[in-house]
Amino acid sequence: MQDPLVYLNGSMTPLSEARIPVLDRGFIFGDGVYEVIPIYGRRLFRSEHHLARLFRSLAKISITNPHDREQWLALIQGVIDAHPAHDQMVYIHVTRGVAKRGHAFPKEALAPTVFIMTNPLVLPSDALRASGVPCVSMEDQRWLHCEIKSISLLGNVLAAQNAAEHGVVEAIQFRDGWLTEASSSNVWIVKHGKLMAPPKDNLILEGIRYRLIEELCAAGGIPFEARRIAREEVFAADEVLLSSATKEVLPVVSIDGKAIGNGAPGPIYKQLYEAYQQAKAAA
Ligand code: PDD
Repeated sequence: MQDPLVYLNGSMTPLSEARIPVLDRGFIFGDGVYEVIPIYGRRLFRSEHHLARLFRSLAKISITNPHDREQWLALIQGVIDAHPAHDQMVYIHVTRGVAKRGHAFPKEALAPTVFIMTNPLVLPSDALRASGVPCVSMEDQRWLHCEIKSISLLGNVLAAQNAAEHGVVEAIQFRDGWLTEASSSNVWIVKHGKLMAPPKDNLILEGIRYRLIEELCAAGGIPFEARRIAREEVFAADEVLLSSATKEVLPVVSIDGKAIGNGAPGPIYKQLYEAYQQAKAAA
C-alpha cells in the first residue's frame, strides 16, 4: 500500500498529507514517547502491556495522557482496519504538543500531538532464523533513562548505524563492562541451560517481550535469572538472543566476528521461538 491512512490529531489522513507544525516539541526537542505494537491476523498482540508501557512513558515525562484505554484501542483499530495487510506493525507517537521554543515545559496547557501509523509487519526470514545473525558490540552511549520509550533516539540511531556499517543486524551495547541492550532489541544469554537478562532498570527498555519470555520460560521449564551480566559472560555464553516486536526472538551467532557457542542457533532459542509462535496463535 503506497499511501496508507494514518491517524493524526483527530483525523484519518493519507500518510503523504499528514503534517505537523514545525514548533511541535517532538520536532524541536524530541519531547515525546512512542510505542510499536505487532498485529497478527489483524489482532493486537499483548496490547494491554503495550498500552501500560505507553502510559508509563507518558507519566514519566509528565505528558497528560490524552486518551483512556478504550479510546486508544479504538484509534489504533481504526488505523489497522484501514490497512490491507494481515500482519502489521503499529507505530504510536505522542509529543508534548506545539509551543513557542523554550526548553522547560510550557506554562500553558498543551494538546499533545498524537500520531498513529501502521506498516506491514516484516519478520526475519526463515533463512535468517536458520543461520542466526551476526552482531557487533559497542559502549552504550545513551542517557540514563532508557526505561522511557522516548522518541529522542539519537543514541539508538548511532548504534544502529554502527551495526549497519558493519553489515550486521544489531549493535549489542555495554555500559562500563555490563550488558545493557541492543539498539532496538533486548539481549538475552544462555549458560548451562539457564536464560539470563539484565535487570529491568533505567539502563534498558523493558521490552514487552521481556515479560512474555519470562512467562514462556516458566511454562516451558527454562530457568531464568535477571541479573547484571558482564561482557565476558556474553562472549562465553552458549547462546545469545535478541527480542523485539519485529524480531520476536532471534539467535545471535557471532559478536565482533567471534562465534557464540558453536556458532549456530541453540536449543533454548528453538524452544522459545516455538513457544512464541504458540503464544501468538493463542492470543
Ligand atoms: N524497539 N530495547 C529497545 C531500545 C527497543 O527500541 C526495543 C523495541 C526493545 C524491545 O521492546 P519490545 O519487546 O517491546 O519490542 C528493547 C521497537 C521495536 C522499535 O523501536 O521499533
